[in-house]
Amino acid sequence: MPRRASRLPRPEELTGLGAALLDAFPVSLYLVDRELRVIAWNRLREQGPIGKPRQKALGRPLERLLPPAAFQVTAETLRDVFRLGQPLEEFTEASGRLFHVRRLPVRQGGEVTHVLSWFEDLTDRRALEMKLIASDRLAFLGQLVAGVAHEVSNPLAGIAGCAEALSSLAAKAPGQAREARKFRDLIREEVARAERIVRFLLDSARPAPGDTADVAATVRTALKLLERHPALNRIRVRSHVPEELPAAQIESESLKQVVMSLAMNAAQAMPSGGTLTLRGGRRGRTLTLDVTDTGPGISPGLRPHIFEPYFTTDPNRGAGLGLPVARSLLRSRGGDLVYLPRRQGACFRVIIKTVGGRG
Ligand SMILES: Nc1ncnc2c1ncn2[C@@H]1O[C@H](COP(=O)(O)OP(=O)(O)OP(=O)(O)O)[C@@H](O)[C@H]1O
Ligand SMILES: [Mg+2]
Repeated sequence: MPRRASRLPRPEELTGLGAALLDAFPVSLYLVDRELRVIAWNRLREQGPIGKPRQKALGRPLERLLPPAAFQVTAETLRDVFRLGQPLEEFTEASGRLFHVRRLPVRQGGEVTHVLSWFEDLTDRRALEMKLIASDRLAFLGQLVAGVAHEVSNPLAGIAGCAEALSSLAAKAPGQAREARKFRDLIREEVARAERIVRFLLDSARPAPGDTADVAATVRTALKLLERHPALNRIRVRSHVPEELPAAQIESESLKQVVMSLAMNAAQAMPSGGTLTLRGGRRGRTLTLDVTDTGPGISPGLRPHIFEPYFTTDPNRGAGLGLPVARSLLRSRGGDLVYLPRRQGACFRVIIKTVGGRG
């Protein structure tokens, strides 16, 4: 094998267009031949804490350029790539930065003559992803508050009703009347206080009435935000939302959250990949946005429960609030969220009124 490699011309330096091409890549990289001698060393490989000037690297054995321990590990990997003819990759942290390292075989005449080492710095991308997850959580918290406030208002109404019943019962047992009235008044006061808190939470979670959304633009923003979300890595996204749809009677922030919530559910239902389709339409004064996936769909037995708060089939991951919060958000603006059975996959229809639309 070494004889064969030594018969191939081995330029000591990659020049001209070849070198310029490697400099153009936004990653740090270098190329070695079978004797682990450096043939190319690009611009970004000169930078950073482990960078070395190109003229010190070209034509030199890699062993002289890396610390001994790093060289040992690297040499072993490079030899594996020469032997197997397969790319190898790994993630590694160095000087506080995260790198995706690829070792790519370069073939000439069917023979692996060189290996290209490719270091992509993922630190900034990871930070962006963390930010996205954090902003997702914050937005979710806002929804949670609105959802909880909404849910709490029902039992409050019930308690108020009980207070009245207590009062009329007491009227039938006059001996207890004074005592009962005292409790009734206490319950009323507490309910009124709780209602004020709920009202405050609902009002602060609900943006100014009259806000409207451009559905196509909102869907674009939501998809942009999800683009790099790891859950959507294997998902193909198709969006058919006409630009000319009239304004929707909902603030775009809420619509964005609904879309993100549905898209996340769809992605979570297709862990090994699939297609997510968003299709916008209009029927009179109603706008629809169908969010369809190619996952397993929802079995008829589960369908009656999916809009119940805290219903989830994955309690380790979900809180079971995505769908109920999205539905209550839409209903509070005159719209709705419904599940449409499909032969394959799931389809959720977001229904929103156009501005000026009634009923
Ligand atoms: N596109 C879908 N395909 C299949 N099942 C779905 C889909 N969307 C929702 N579901 C089912 O409905 C349940 C409730 O959804 P919901 O979004 O309310 O909660 P979650 O996703 O489990 O948790 P959370 O959204 O609070 O993190 C899910 O656990 C899942 O079983
Ligand atoms: Mg969900």
